[in-house]
Amino acid sequence: QADGTDGADDKDRQLESVRADSRGELTTETGVRVDDTDNSLSAGERGPTLLEDFHFREKITHFDHERIPERVVHARGAGAYGHFQPYESFSRYTRAHFLSDPSVRTPVFVRFSTVAGSRGSADTVRDVRGFATKFYTREGNYDLVGNNMPVFFIQDGIKFPDFVHAVKPEPHNEIPQAQSAHDTLWDFVGLQPETMHMMMWLMSDRAIPRSYRMMQGFGVHTFRLVNERGEGTFVKFHWKPVLGVHSLVWDECQKIAGKDPDYNRRDLWDAIEAGQYPEYELGCQLVPESEEHRFDFDLLDATKIIPEEEVPVVPVGRMVLDRNPDNFFAETEQIAFHTANVVPGIDFTNDPLLQARNFSYLDTQLIRLGGPNFQQIPVNRPVAEVSNNQRDGYGQQRVHRGRTSYFPNSLGGGCPALADAGAYTHYQERVDGAKIRRRSPSFQDHFSQATLFYNSLAGWEREHLVAAFRFELGKCEVMAVRERVVERLNHVDHGLAVEVARGIGVAPPAEAAVRNHGRSSPALSQTALLGT
Ligand code: HEM
Repeated sequence: QADGTDGADDKDRQLESVRADSRGELTTETGVRVDDTDNSLSAGERGPTLLEDFHFREKITHFDHERIPERVVHARGAGAYGHFQPYESFSRYTRAHFLSDPSVRTPVFVRFSTVAGSRGSADTVRDVRGFATKFYTREGNYDLVGNNMPVFFIQDGIKFPDFVHAVKPEPHNEIPQAQSAHDTLWDFVGLQPETMHMMMWLMSDRAIPRSYRMMQGFGVHTFRLVNERGEGTFVKFHWKPVLGVHSLVWDECQKIAGKDPDYNRRDLWDAIEAGQYPEYELGCQLVPESEEHRFDFDLLDATKIIPEEEVPVVPVGRMVLDRNPDNFFAETEQIAFHTANVVPGIDFTNDPLLQARNFSYLDTQLIRLGGPNFQQIPVNRPVAEVSNNQRDGYGQQRVHRGRTSYFPNSLGGGCPALADAGAYTHYQERVDGAKIRRRSPSFQDHFSQATLFYNSLAGWEREHLVAAFRFELGKCEVMAVRERVVERLNHVDHGLAVEVARGIGVAPPAEAAVRNHGRSSPALSQTALLGT
């Protein structure tokens, strides 16, 4: 083994101590042996159940508390363990240990997910897929919380609750479950033109992957790598599946959703059980700090890709998923990813969507996982040593010793010292400016890359895209909503707008006077449209 071990990795060895097998004699949670778990204690043969039956009460009480809230988004998922190894040292760009030494094999857990559906919804719906990776590095956990599409619906995280309220089933009747065919989503899309690029991806075959093994992953945001000298490089992360990218067709999706709603998670599980381990290559697009303003879009705008013709993807390393979890709830459900889980050598940018995520994930996990100690849950626990003055709280698993839990202290007794090397240091970015509540003009072009995407499609891919728009948008009951979206599409591609319009009973629009209005004309700005 590259790490000189017996084949089990650091994480696997750590988990060994918490694996629980039910065997031997049945006991209560307090370890008292039980000889009857089918009959509750009653007063006489046919009398009432007695409150003193502590085994009955404990068994029922525990059952009553088995459920936790599902994730507010990405509720349905499937996960697996594996490992990541870089091809060669990436230390020119980052001081992250797990990317700097090709002999280091880092354990990972990956969770794939759909976004809109509830925990029990079907796999083969038209939706974005989550692709979240936790690297258990020796310098702490690093989470790359990505999707299978390289852009996002909105530019600023403050819109996320509005977006999710529009995309989730409608609140009065909770219909439709996990699909994009409803008025609220299309209403939001028509009124927020920044969604248009992502909507092209969502209506394409990328939104119906055949397998999690055949799906790309993207970090979406521009992040920052920082090397030993403190030099930053902008980076976009890419996962490429070794099996290539493959999709289902819509008709198959609908049939499979009925016949085997676990289609994608079953495929992942079965492949790993059969030794057909899914593999992905990590790649990076790298942009020097000095070239931040070289593009005709803003690197901080998550609705934009960096075209690969302009900045190629550099291969960095390989990830293999080779072990199914032992327990879905304990591992796949309780894992907690967070964009702010970074290690030295990886940093953020001022992308306003990323900044919001850096707040949101921890906040939601505090309620989803029942308090501040969820990093102690086995699947979340780092393999790096943990030592600090955080204490107490629900679900505390550690028995801290000594009388001091504050810094600094002169009484000793286990107060951790500050790290003298290897600590996380934030990138020294210069920041100034007046407080404003307004998006930068550099974020205003909402259509050029949607057009770029459309132009990149083959004929049959365009046919699928048009069919998807017709199917989904054609379910909208409010004609004005359909018309507004067609009007938006007209600024992506006139032919596309006409094709979609024809299929959904909307009058085909005249050719748009201004194509790229985001950059060149305020005429169709959000405010203008809201007035129509
Ligand atoms: C969950 C990706 C934007 C809030 C997730 C998950 C993924 C993901 C993959 C599932 C994690 C898992 O498997 O446990 C993304 C991507 C985004 C994005 C790629 C944009 C580029 C946002 C934004 C917010 C947000 C803007 C809020 C401001 C959440 C929340 C969860 C979640 C609250 C549930 C986390 C949990 O309960 O553990 N996201 N997301 N996401 N995301 Fe995002």
